[in-house]
Amino acid sequence: MNKITKLFNITYPIIQGGMIWNSGYKLASAVSNAGGLGLIGAGSMYPEVLKEHIQKCKKATNKPFGVNVPMLYPNIEEIIKIIIDESVKIVFTSAGNPKTWTSLLKQNGIIVVHVVSSSKFALKAQEAGVDAVVAEGFEAGGHNGREETTTLTLIPIVKEHISIPIIAAGGIATGRGMLAAMVLGADGVQMGSRFVASTESSAHNNFKKTVLETSEGETQLTLKELAPVRLIKNKFFNDIQELYTQSPSKEDLENLLGKRRAKRGMFEGDLIEGELEIGQISGLIHEILPVQIIFEKIISEFEIAKKEAISL
Ligand SMILES: Cc1cc2nc3c(=O)[nH]c(=O)nc-3n(C[C@H](O)[C@H](O)[C@H](O)COP(=O)(O)O)c2cc1C
Repeated sequence: MNKITKLFNITYPIIQGGMIWNSGYKLASAVSNAGGLGLIGAGSMYPEVLKEHIQKCKKATNKPFGVNVPMLYPNIEEIIKIIIDESVKIVFTSAGNPKTWTSLLKQNGIIVVHVVSSSKFALKAQEAGVDAVVAEGFEAGGHNGREETTTLTLIPIVKEHISIPIIAAGGIATGRGMLAAMVLGADGVQMGSRFVASTESSAHNNFKKTVLETSEGETQLTLKELAPVRLIKNKFFNDIQELYTQSPSKEDLENLLGKRRAKRGMFEGDLIEGELEIGQISGLIHEILPVQIIFEKIISEFEIAKKEAISL
């Protein structure tokens, strides 16, 4: 037992990050059934859809699971109400101020974790009363901080500033990565990209296959003026870069992004015009696997790496 397995009452300190268009109840329940913590990604769900996923998740697992709420999307009040009404026990908030919802969630007996990308926000999250933070480095897939702080740097610095448990995220997809993060001071890890390429993720097969083909240099953080996001360098990404050569306004960027890009890319499989979010660690992901096998591999590699580390 460590701080994270105790906090969530799970077997392994491995969390599957909430991911728009990728993490519905099938993925979340498979991760929870494998001994980790599965999170339903509310960011791409209308409130009614989220409710359905929570109810299905309860049927698919009797283990703890949670919901990830990125605060940059609409309908947050309704989403929070559903989470409370459905007696969800764990919530991970991200992309917003941790003060906004933490006390209401805590009053309802919910364990709250907030995602941060700097020690400054880790401290703010601790002051807001969260139970743990996810410290997410620059390598990570999806939305990210503007400062470009890598996981290797972020974890020990965050640890110097806060006393609550730390979950490391960004660039971790294996048992070795997990061990490294824990040696740096993390109490657990959150993985996103690894679980995109799982049988149970709701990503379109085109996207899953593209993740396998993506090398470490083929993603880049962009759209810092809107909400920084790491994307695969496809045509849509190149269109953004082209627009940057013309010193675009925020509005120009918003117009290019338009609506539904992320759904189009990751859920509908449009590899050309869609937004394809994935982390640098996709360069190390070579197979689409069932969640149970991913867990077995991570745990056995973690144990081997730990033994090897002792003889260093
Ligand atoms: C496709 C995709 C979608 C994501 N969507 C969200 C999201 O909705 N909310 C959130 O807090 N983080 C989101 N993330 C970040 C993940 O939860 C996780 O922290 C991150 O993927 C960890 O880094 P890794 O990709 O290197 O494993 C997303 C990541 C990916 C790859």
